[in-house]
Amino acid sequence: MLSEQFILELKARSDIEQIIGAYVNVKRRGRNLVGLCPFHSEKTPSFTVYPDSQSFYCFGCGAGGDVVTFVRRIENLDYIEAVKLLAQRAGIPMPEDGYDDSFARLKTRILEINRETARFYHAHLISPAGKKGLDYLRERGLSDKTIRRFGLGYAPEDWDAAIRHLREKGFRLEELAAAAVAVKSARGSYYDQFRGRVIFPIIDIRGNVVAFGGRLLDGRGPKYLNSPDTPVFKKSRNLFALNFAKSSKEPALILAEGYMDVVALHQAGFVNAVATLGTSLTTEQARMICQYAQEVVVAYDADGAGQKATNRAINLFGEIGGRVRVLKVHDAKDPDEFIKKFGAARFRLLLEGAGSAMDFAIGRLRQKYDLESADGKVAFLKEFARFMADIRNPIERDVYVTRTAEELRVSKEPLTAQIDYIIRQRAKNAEKKQAGDLTVFASDPKRGRDPQREAHLKEALAEERLIGILLKNPDYHRFILERIRPEDFLTDFNREIFQVICQRLEQNRPIELIALSEQLDERQMGKVAGILADAVSSKATQKETLDYIDAVLAGRRKKTPEELKQMGREELEEYVADLAAKKK
Ligand code: CTP
Ligand code: MN
Repeated sequence: MLSEQFILELKARSDIEQIIGAYVNVKRRGRNLVGLCPFHSEKTPSFTVYPDSQSFYCFGCGAGGDVVTFVRRIENLDYIEAVKLLAQRAGIPMPEDGYDDSFARLKTRILEINRETARFYHAHLISPAGKKGLDYLRERGLSDKTIRRFGLGYAPEDWDAAIRHLREKGFRLEELAAAAVAVKSARGSYYDQFRGRVIFPIIDIRGNVVAFGGRLLDGRGPKYLNSPDTPVFKKSRNLFALNFAKSSKEPALILAEGYMDVVALHQAGFVNAVATLGTSLTTEQARMICQYAQEVVVAYDADGAGQKATNRAINLFGEIGGRVRVLKVHDAKDPDEFIKKFGAARFRLLLEGAGSAMDFAIGRLRQKYDLESADGKVAFLKEFARFMADIRNPIERDVYVTRTAEELRVSKEPLTAQIDYIIRQRAKNAEKKQAGDLTVFASDPKRGRDPQREAHLKEALAEERLIGILLKNPDYHRFILERIRPEDFLTDFNREIFQVICQRLEQNRPIELIALSEQLDERQMGKVAGILADAVSSKATQKETLDYIDAVLAGRRKKTPEELKQMGREELEEYVADLAAKKK
């Protein structure tokens, strides 16, 4: 366990406003700050930061907690790792002893393996034995400087060259398998994951080699092979070359499809290019891009698959409120080929001319219809109107409507009228839906279903109020504990939280959120933050406290018929006697 002094010092030096502000765009609203929740997809901000209690809470998805919980979730770390990261940031040395950090140690080990593996592949590439790989990369137009900068490599064709090298360096086979540089065969022997492939190391924003992509030169197998997810790598949360692109001074990031596109773009001076890693864009990746740039330029392949993927990306960015432009390469299959054929200057022109996501979408829509025929025009305009109704800004809407009306030589007014009608209709429906949402919210669905809570809603709410009172007024703890014990709580979930808090108070240990998050998991921290968020204005008088205690105890005494059946005779008699005593 970490010492109290350390935890409190960490708290003092880790201001939640600053730390969350580095990840989420939050705006001040009264005493608090609000923004779009980084943990679920939303268009209107329900993510709130409370500087007073140094907590955060999302009213949309129930994520919440203290600064450690936040860092855990956003960086995908365990408790100790998150504390370490914050300590590092604050410049406080970590106490060494005590906690179980075997998982953290494995991760460190895997990162060491990955670094050594990248070195090995790179050394092989520039050695005589790696000629084939080096020739290939040069053939594709990469300079030695680029190859070095990206740490590109070549995996020998052997079955176990990397394994042998890494074992000499003192790594064990199981560790190599955990890092996914070695694969265990059905027969139990180990072989190299990557063989006879040009290697692209994937480096995270902290500069760790977290995985590899490998391109086949010839022979059998998929053209590209990527590391599977490991303890240090999640495909859906990483972007190739973000380690470089994040510090480019450009306001936009360029999102390309492939490793080669990105390397070629960087070599040509577009150091703000990134790519996904053999998967289509995920929400997490889209969010990361929005964190680092005000705008993204999607520069996918010119083929059908690339255009489909562009559409998908536009929708994803739309959902999270990111600005998108679309770059279309002409007379080349992808940015890599375009730059090779026409040069960097021409690519810069494409970049500057990249149209808005709306231009792209309208272009695709037009392709669907035969605009020469009257029927085709009508069908197109109907769909176009629905499309335009999605644009919130009326001025922007007008730009597209005017232009399209002119191009199709139809008059603008009926089109505008149709669009306005759709917008009004939608607003009506949304109102209805929102009324529905509110009732659902009262029963707390997104914070995870808790059947116990639903069965004893009144008592559960009282329990939560008591937890809130205790957190805000630790000096009440005698008063409360003399009247109610954790065993009296009806819901297991709240009981556990209450128990942890009481225990800490009895031991005179701090109950700051940052200290609690050592013992409570993410869901529990979410609940605690939610309770605090609800309790901002409550006064917590003795009377109020007693009422809540009574409510919980009364619920405790009230047994369901099921529970009565389960009771032993003695227990039942006691219960009846207790009820009779209360009646008097
Ligand atoms: N990809 C993959 N597995 C494959 C094919 C592609 O993971 N079998 C991923 C890779 O991340 C690749 C990207 O999709 O970089 C784009 O694929 P493709 O367009 O085929 O790649 P290029 O970079 O154009 O390939 P090449 O090396 O031939 O230029
Ligand atoms: Mn391609």
